[in-house]
Amino acid sequence: MFDTTLRDGEQSPGVNLNTKEKVEIALQLEKLGIDRIEAGFPAASPGDLQSVNAVAKAIKNATVIGLSRSRVQDIDAAREALKGAEDPCLHLFLATSPIHRKYKLRMEKEQVLETAERAIRYAKQYFDKIEFSPEDAGRTELDFLCQVTEMAIRAGATVVNIPDTVGYMTPLEFGNIFKTLREKVPGIERIQLSAHCHDDLGMATANALAAVLNGADQIEGTINGIGERAGNTALEEVAMALETRSDVFQAKTTLNLKEIARTSRLVSKLTGMAVPGNKAIVGANAFAHESGIHQDGMLKEKTTYEIISPETIGLKESKLVLGKHSGRHAFREKLIDLGYDLGEEALNAAFAKFKDLADRKKDVSDEDIRALLEEKIVDTPE
Ligand code: KIV
Ligand code: ZN
Repeated sequence: MFDTTLRDGEQSPGVNLNTKEKVEIALQLEKLGIDRIEAGFPAASPGDLQSVNAVAKAIKNATVIGLSRSRVQDIDAAREALKGAEDPCLHLFLATSPIHRKYKLRMEKEQVLETAERAIRYAKQYFDKIEFSPEDAGRTELDFLCQVTEMAIRAGATVVNIPDTVGYMTPLEFGNIFKTLREKVPGIERIQLSAHCHDDLGMATANALAAVLNGADQIEGTINGIGERAGNTALEEVAMALETRSDVFQAKTTLNLKEIARTSRLVSKLTGMAVPGNKAIVGANAFAHESGIHQDGMLKEKTTYEIISPETIGLKESKLVLGKHSGRHAFREKLIDLGYDLGEEALNAAFAKFKDLADRKKDVSDEDIRALLEEKIVDTPE
């Protein structure tokens, strides 16, 4: 698991993390058991160089990574930033797709190969671990991507990362890239293959999992899926998919899953990016049930409507939210919870009042129910 919350995640519009905040998140990522932490892009600003350096010095049980364009100045900035890291790694990238070659780089294929090779060989003098990313790999001709990967292995890269930079891929296409690289590139067994997806079409997690099924060793992503535009693969989603459907993926992470909820809350607090209520795994409603049929099922046996227990990710319990779809079973359980023991007739009357209220109010709180019962007691002649 390669976390880039502090680099690609910080590229979310409006997010700016200072050194102290980056270190706080990195330490929590270490607790979560993330293997590799991309701390920033040292050449981007003196402040980011300083933050990467602070993270590098603080982290003892994960690889710390700095991003770099395929340029000597960037590599030198990353060298400076990663001084003091227990296990440093340089992440080099250069775009390879026809669109990027033509409009952004104004380079032919040969120049791309030469520039990347020169950068990897230069960096190899200083770093044992080098990840190379052919930016916009998803839209790169597959035979050229094989050539680029072969060059990166020969030049000394230890990881080749395949970014779907603009979130354009579908799972079948993205999986096929990994399958082809594994089949066609000489020396591929000597390196790790990594997947880096963006969520522009809402397929970042599906694409990352397709990569796993086709031979990816590493998944890159962010906590809560934050990142450029629609964001990156949400690592908590990948981790829980691998855990919950190990029958399908036959792959596991070594994450300490119980730290997921805490990590999500911290990232949300420090980035200022709220987690949508319906967000998979970490949204406020991910373990909340409102309809009577679901609540009745949950009260009888939780696995009827929950495929993950909230305790697995470090939450206390599921929530049964009372609203107009709720039924008598959940209402009665709530009354018992609040300390009321009503007979059948009183319960029916209170339930009718509750339904009335629920038609007017989206969520009925504990306070609303207490008020409703007090009112009922006053109304009921002795
Ligand atoms: O999305 C992307 O292409 C990136 C690269 C720098 C890996 O973030
Ligand atoms: Zn990215």
